[in-house]
Amino acid sequence: MIGFQNIGLIAIVAIAATVQAKWIVPGARWTDTDGGLVNAHAGGVILDQTTGRFFWFGEYKVEGQVEGGGVSVYSSDDLATWKNEGIALSPIEGHPYIAPEHIIQRPKVLYSKNTGKYHMWWHADNSTYGWLLQGFAQSDNITGPYKFLDATTPLGNWSQDFGLFTDYKDGKAYGLYSNGDRKEGRDVYLTSYNDDITALDQVVHRFDKYDLEAPTIIQTEKSYFALMSHKTGYRPNNVVAFRADSLKGPWSQPFTVSPLNTRTYNSQSGFSLRIEGTKKTTYLYLGDQWDSNSLWESRYIWLPVEIDENKKDLKIEWYDVYDLNVKTGEVTPIKGQAYYGKNAVTNGDAFKQEATFGSDGIILTGITGNDSTVTFSNIEGAGKPQWVSFYYQNTDDMGFGDQPGGSPDRFGGKWQLRRISSVIVNGDAKNVETLFQRDTNKGIILSTPLLLNLTKGSKNTITVGGLWNGFETKGADLDHLVVYPPEG
Ligand code: GLA
Repeated sequence: MIGFQNIGLIAIVAIAATVQAKWIVPGARWTDTDGGLVNAHAGGVILDQTTGRFFWFGEYKVEGQVEGGGVSVYSSDDLATWKNEGIALSPIEGHPYIAPEHIIQRPKVLYSKNTGKYHMWWHADNSTYGWLLQGFAQSDNITGPYKFLDATTPLGNWSQDFGLFTDYKDGKAYGLYSNGDRKEGRDVYLTSYNDDITALDQVVHRFDKYDLEAPTIIQTEKSYFALMSHKTGYRPNNVVAFRADSLKGPWSQPFTVSPLNTRTYNSQSGFSLRIEGTKKTTYLYLGDQWDSNSLWESRYIWLPVEIDENKKDLKIEWYDVYDLNVKTGEVTPIKGQAYYGKNAVTNGDAFKQEATFGSDGIILTGITGNDSTVTFSNIEGAGKPQWVSFYYQNTDDMGFGDQPGGSPDRFGGKWQLRRISSVIVNGDAKNVETLFQRDTNKGIILSTPLLLNLTKGSKNTITVGGLWNGFETKGADLDHLVVYPPEG
């Protein structure tokens, strides 16, 4: 987590000069300035004092592989436009700890004033999670290349999901790590670094036996909120937070941070940012929306967090599309135009079904193949690419029915990650867009975005059908669409 208060005036001026308004669209396919998919999973973002730029480090996932890509780095002035800066830590064939078959997960970087170098820490492991170590690498340059130095057991303990936190008040750095799934583990540790940030030195708190992972800390003026996920692998669950006045505790009971059963808007925790702007301090939740069918295509759920210090509460707020001004700290949700299911036309076996939770008491269901479709009409377009959010329900149940964070209502479930819909604009069947609709729970409506080309005027149609997801050719149930204005 990064304080924004140290940014120099010069850097702020530079940001204002170069930034083009770009919005944050949680769950979309994020592309870098070269047009490639942003591939930096379960990572961390730091504000570099020298350049005034943000640097995002994450797991680089190779298409079709689980491990082996090392750590990627991207840079940005606005947290929305990302430049690919290459691979910061490369795997080395035959290396005892960072060979391509090893786990290099949840990398985080911070600058050590004492060594004058950038330090990278991560979860270092063999492919079966049998070592549970923390890796340490260094570089003179923020973008690397980082040189591997060591992989250690922190104070003799195990370490799995790794997080890093810097207290903005005194600059002290802390490691946060879950210590594995074994009965003797199942804790999350908060441990301070030595002054050089070359080793951990003292346990500050142990979140004892909650059996949580993917930890991060959000620090406000008054509070520390520690966010963690339950343990359901790459399937999301309901993230919880603990609150305390001091890092040593006492820490509160854990509480959920998003509407129950949305599984934290289908995401896993892992990092957060504190942006101290000129008008407002904004806290961002940086979550991962894993795609276990294709890890490299996993997406990012970055959302602002609302904190109520009186109620000692924190909630993640969903926005389809928002503008974040990193200079002022302001978040501006973008307004769109909604088109409801009751006005849509159903074709084939698709139909409008009574649903207490649906807008206007109905939901569009039975969307299958390319003949049982629904069509939304009279959609206003701008003649430029526009974000369209599809509000849907998918009750397949992605499983872990008997585990925390899984569906409490269904044992086993179908274990399908998602349904897939086809989206056709203005009947042009040559241009079919693919919409992934991840599992929700019954009665839970979430949204997922697509960038569409609508023609100028109010005569556009959007037709949604079902595509094969390896299991069935069904789209999810639709509630409504929201069409956003073009960016810029
Ligand atoms: C959890 C962890 C990830 C990764 C996966 C593997 O989601 O938080 O870092 O290790 O499990 O299943």
